[in-house]
Amino acid sequence: MPPKFDPNDPAVVELVSLFKSFGLSETKSLEAVRNPKTAATLKDIVQACNLTANPLDDKQAGLIASLATQGSKLAEPERNYIATAVADGRLKTADQVTAAVKFLTESPLPVDTNRFESACGVGFSITPEELDATVATYLKSKEPLSWDKVNTYLPGTKQDDVLKWANNLDVKNSLEAYLTKTIGPKPAAPAKGKSKDPKKPPVPAASSSTAPAEQAASSEVNERSVFEEGFLGRLHKVGGNPQKHESRRKEHLDWTKGRVFTRFPPEPNGFLHIGHAKAIFVNFGYAAHNGGHCYLRFDDTNPEAEEARYFESILEVIRWLGFEPYKITYSSDHFQKLYELAVDLTKRGLAYVCHCTGEEINAARGGAERGPRYACSHRDRPVEESLAEFEKMKNGEYGPGEAILRMKQDLEDGNPQMWDLVAYRVLKAPHHRTGDKWVIYPTYDFTHCLCDSFENITHSLCTTEFIQSRVSYEWLCNALDIYCPRQSEYGRLSLEGTVTSKRKLKKLVDDGHVMSWDDPRLYTLIALRRRGVPPGAIISFVGGLGVSTSASNILVSRFEQSIREYLELNVPRLLMVIKPLKVIIENLPEDFLVMIDKPLHPKVPAFGSSTIPFTRTIYIEEDDFRLEDSKDYFRLAPGKTVGLFQAPYPITYVSHKTDETGKVTEIICKAENEGPPKKPKAFIQWVADHPASGSPIRVDELRVFHRLFKSDAPAAQPDFLKDIAPDTLEVVKGSMVEIGFLPLAKKTYDEALKIGKTRTEIAHKEDEKAQTSVKEEISHDDAPKATAEQLVGNEVVRFQGLRVAYFALDKDASLACFNEPAGTEPVLKPGDKVILNRIVSLKEDSGKTI
Ligand SMILES: *[C@@H]1O[C@H](CO)[C@@H](O)[C@H](O)[C@H]1NC(C)=O
Ligand SMILES: *[C@@H]1O[C@H](CO)[C@@H](O)[C@H](O)[C@H]1NC(C)=O
Repeated sequence: MPPKFDPNDPAVVELVSLFKSFGLSETKSLEAVRNPKTAATLKDIVQACNLTANPLDDKQAGLIASLATQGSKLAEPERNYIATAVADGRLKTADQVTAAVKFLTESPLPVDTNRFESACGVGFSITPEELDATVATYLKSKEPLSWDKVNTYLPGTKQDDVLKWANNLDVKNSLEAYLTKTIGPKPAAPAKGKSKDPKKPPVPAASSSTAPAEQAASSEVNERSVFEEGFLGRLHKVGGNPQKHESRRKEHLDWTKGRVFTRFPPEPNGFLHIGHAKAIFVNFGYAAHNGGHCYLRFDDTNPEAEEARYFESILEVIRWLGFEPYKITYSSDHFQKLYELAVDLTKRGLAYVCHCTGEEINAARGGAERGPRYACSHRDRPVEESLAEFEKMKNGEYGPGEAILRMKQDLEDGNPQMWDLVAYRVLKAPHHRTGDKWVIYPTYDFTHCLCDSFENITHSLCTTEFIQSRVSYEWLCNALDIYCPRQSEYGRLSLEGTVTSKRKLKKLVDDGHVMSWDDPRLYTLIALRRRGVPPGAIISFVGGLGVSTSASNILVSRFEQSIREYLELNVPRLLMVIKPLKVIIENLPEDFLVMIDKPLHPKVPAFGSSTIPFTRTIYIEEDDFRLEDSKDYFRLAPGKTVGLFQAPYPITYVSHKTDETGKVTEIICKAENEGPPKKPKAFIQWVADHPASGSPIRVDELRVFHRLFKSDAPAAQPDFLKDIAPDTLEVVKGSMVEIGFLPLAKKTYDEALKIGKTRTEIAHKEDEKAQTSVKEEISHDDAPKATAEQLVGNEVVRFQGLRVAYFALDKDASLACFNEPAGTEPVLKPGDKVILNRIVSLKEDSGKTI
């Protein structure tokens, strides 16, 4: 908790009045005072530059305040130089101040005025014609152009030497004018969901009729705020990261041309979970938003843990979430280069072969009691000896644990990541890609930063658990005099009330507490997918939480609420009864039939409509009938009238039948089809019995998943298995759904497949482009391939059972019509199985019944 802020504190009042006296607005003054560091810096600037003597205008004062926020690391003379440049009117915009901070960070005073002014766009001016011409050139480099990508173009102009100084609004207008001229007008915005909380991303809308969720989910979040503000908004510009050698920066800028390069580097040793969704969103999203690229790099340095199925699944999940890797690479691509650098490091006297046991190493690092640290006897062995020993390690002359290569860092440093980390160890396991070629394998600490460097990563984004590693990351790159990427850490996302550790998940699967790794009670991404959670809902959830340096621990119930909000406008609604109760409407003739055309969503006409029969025999929900009436009960009971959604008449109770146990088995009603229309107080869902039109569709199995754990912190229990709740899978048989289900399912599936194919074709084309742009030295024929099928499963069929819950088709279901050509009239075939999963209830609930 930050210390409590008291606006009446005399010290605060004095500072606010000082800030106001140089022209800063009241709000901004208060804002500045809230952050003690900013406040102190700002005070120094104001006093040193004598700003109160010649107060600034509102805008200039705001720039000075922003200088105090960004420039707290600059030394005083540099900071004051920038403040003066603001005061004398040379620097006019926030972008210019940012550029000035960057410039003076890299080249301190005395300043070369010309270079400074050109780096900061001082005196920049552009005519509308010049602006249009520059925008046109810029957009030509982005071809093929598409309105879908319009959100990436504007931020991309920030990388352009000229456009970055132009007025944002002018650039935006010029961009849009050019796009309209070349690819036609912007498509009409899809119906926007209502978003009560302005901070929340808008609920993504149904852009095409039925399969919106499978479309590139990434474009749907309120990207501006996530990628341009807060943690991600504050990341350095490409090339702005510190380098030991200026020449490295130049090479880096020449090669990247200012484009962002990120990477998502999972270890292929398990299935990704909800926490990874954030990493995917951050890395792929940030690159895409800035017109850059994101690698999928399999960090496969531990041959013992890897399995082929994980590689496939990881690519599939990334694509399902709406992203395409720029390239798929492997840490193992670089085994030879890594080895050579390990030799190089040793030759530089910065690595040595050590034969200590794990215990000895621990003890030398101060042990558990954090005692004094000391060098082991191998640390100062001659370089030649380490080189020879390392060669022996490589040739298999040592077994695992008998020898390791360690970096020679700094035992005096307070950071344990500097205590001579292990660089290489002996592992006599064949590697799935390099076979028996190697018996030594590099560690994460040695591999990660070097692979980032090889791939010219501009922003190495990871979670805050790795903060301490940043020191060793930079140490190693700089020790080898290679390009040093900048690692920046954001807070991880975890869900409370579930477990995500691989070991625990494995236990749940192996012991049969859940069906499989994709059991919908789990929070692996394949489980969420199977359950029917749309990728857009996950992206919207992650994006809505924002990205900052603090970790997000979110209750599962909040996640579900976010899914619910997403589904509300993104899936159609069908009539459905879970536990059917037969109703005979006695005053209708035996052959009575009305076909009703009803919308699939009351607020989203794009979903279209379905046509369903209304007949003399219908089914309603068991729970919608009661024998004991009461005042606040408006559904069916003796003497009562109730409305049927979309049906022509309400019905009124006449009598009922029971079985020998007293259970109600049938209700006799009459239709209110004569006299003045009655206005019922409530409407209930129903489905008609009409075999000729296939009504109703019988659901073979309806699976309702309840929370797997009793507590909100199962992982913290001494034995998490004891926290498992009983009966978390409820299977209901005999449910019924309206016949609109089948055409909806077929159409949704066909459309998802079509979108999947288009996306995959584009991905393949981009891939070819990427392959030819850089000559591959290493074959990636074994890499998992992008396919349309990865993007489409039964789960794309989602709907709300009106008044019931949200459902998706389970992967165990089978509908023969999915294999028929698109557009074929679907019918149920023998052998078809309708199996539905409840995605979420309509309201937050804790009870069993759905
Ligand atoms: C600040 O400005 C005032 C008024 O122009 C002037 O009298 C004073 O000497 C200046 N102080 C410094 C330190 O420049
Ligand atoms: C990284 O940049 C260098 C130039 O600095 C270039 O030679 C190299 O090919 C780039 N790496 C990759 C993986 O493209």
